[in-house]
Amino acid sequence: MAVVPHPPLVDYYEAPERRERFVRDLFDDTAPWYDWSVAFLSFGSGGRYRRDALARAGLTRGQRLLDIATGTGVVARAALPIIGSTSDIIGMDPSIGMLLAGREKEHFPLIEAGSEHLPFRDESFDMITIGFALRHFADLDAVFRDCRRVLRPGGRILIMEITAPASRAARMFLGAYMGGVVPAMATVITRSRKVGRMLAYYWATTRDCVRPEVILAALQGAEFADASRHVELGMFSEYTGRR
Ligand SMILES: C[S@@+](CC[C@H](N)C(=O)[O-])C[C@H]1O[C@@H](n2cnc3c(N)ncnc32)[C@H](O)[C@@H]1O
Repeated sequence: MAVVPHPPLVDYYEAPERRERFVRDLFDDTAPWYDWSVAFLSFGSGGRYRRDALARAGLTRGQRLLDIATGTGVVARAALPIIGSTSDIIGMDPSIGMLLAGREKEHFPLIEAGSEHLPFRDESFDMITIGFALRHFADLDAVFRDCRRVLRPGGRILIMEITAPASRAARMFLGAYMGGVVPAMATVITRSRKVGRMLAYYWATTRDCVRPEVILAALQGAEFADASRHVELGMFSEYTGRR
C-alpha cells in the first residue's frame, strides 16, 4: 500500500487527483521568488545549512549526486564546492519554472520529471538528496525503492525535512508564525499573493506530514541499511540510509 506523506489538503485543491497539478503550478508560478523565500525563512542560512547537512551525510569530492526535487538547485549549488564539478550533479524536478529560475545561477544537467520513476540505470549514483520535498511525493515507499535501485552499493540517501513539533501547543505557536506571519509578510514584500500561498502551503504540509517514525520505516521497508534521523535545532530533520 502507498505510504502517502500527508492527507489531502482540501483548502488548497478539491480532490486528491488534483494535488500533483496544484503543486506543479504553485512552484511554476512562484519560481522567481523561491531563492528569496528560502533566504527569508532561514534568515539567509539556507545554503550553509544544506552544505553542512551534505557534509554530515558523507558527501565527498568527485562523487556523483542525484538531487531529486532540485527546484532552483539550492541543494545542488551547496554540493558543488564539495563535489567539485557541475557535471557530476544531476538535478530533477517536475516544475519547469523552478528549473529555469535555477539555470540563471548555475548550469547542472537537469531533467524535468517527478521522482516516481527515475530515468537512470541501476547503480548510477553515490548519493541522492531530497531537500524539503518529500511531502510532495505520491508514495514514499515507491520513491525510496527506486532511489535504492539507482544508488551504487554503499551509496547514501539524504532527505532533509522540517518536522513540526509533536506538542500541540508548540505546533500552534510555530503555525501562527510559519503559517500566518511569514506568508503575510512575504505577500507584502513580494507583492505576490502566490508567494504567500506557497509559503502557507509549505507550513500546511509540514504540519500534516507523517511523523519521523513513518519515514524511517519507509526507508527500512525499501531495504536501506542504517536508516537514521539526525536533528538540528529541534526541527531540521536529516534522514539517511545506505544501500
Ligand atoms: C520546497 S521546494 C525544494 C527545492 C530544493 N530541494 C530545496 O532544498 O530548496 C520543493 C520542490 O519539490 C518539487 N516537487 C514537487 N512534487 C515533486 C515530485 N513528485 N517529485 C519530485 N519533485 C517534486 C517542486 O517542484 C519543488 O521544486
